[in-house]
Amino acid sequence: MDRLLPLAGVLLSLFHVSFGYDFYVGGKDGWVVKPDESYDLWAVNMRFQVNDKLVFKYKKGEDSVLQVKEEDFHLCNTSNPIKKFNNGDTVFLLDRSGPFYFISGESGHCAQGQKLVVVVMAVRVPPSPSPSPSPAPAANSVSPLPSPTPSSAIGVAVSRAYCGVLALFLGAVVFG
Ligand SMILES: *[C@@H]1O[C@H](CO)[C@@H](O)[C@H](O)[C@H]1NC(C)=O
Repeated sequence: MDRLLPLAGVLLSLFHVSFGYDFYVGGKDGWVVKPDESYDLWAVNMRFQVNDKLVFKYKKGEDSVLQVKEEDFHLCNTSNPIKKFNNGDTVFLLDRSGPFYFISGESGHCAQGQKLVVVVMAVRVPPSPSPSPSPAPAANSVSPLPSPTPSSAIGVAVSRAYCGVLALFLGAVVFG
């Protein structure tokens, strides 16, 4: 059992990468013409990552969600959406990093603030486990790359140790 604990921690930290979080656009207000808090303010407090989902809640038949190009977002132009949703419970997968633009498809709603831009953070690539051995430079050539300093090697070791401790901790939370 003890040997499973770190594994559980690793699985937990992979969970977010694989499945993502659901973000309810506008919180309790949902997707409405005049939200209590502007969608800009709502979005600024969130950290969106690839595979997260946006959930738009609105009255079916009375509103819709359009994913649009940046230009159409700024102009509130509803005539050429990339995608259109109107089932009242729209789940949108953020499947890449970068900006996504949404406006209401109802006439006049976007101009009154029913518009949302979400910027998904770039995927962070973990550091490679070990530097690949490079051939020794020839005696008469100058190496273009500085050799790694001891302190950066220590930093990597420390951060790996930290990850291990974190995994143990998460494992303990699950099974404790
Ligand atoms: C909206 O976009 C379409 C196609 O790009 C364009 O023909 C139309 O004039 C635009 N409408 C407004 C109000 O900008």
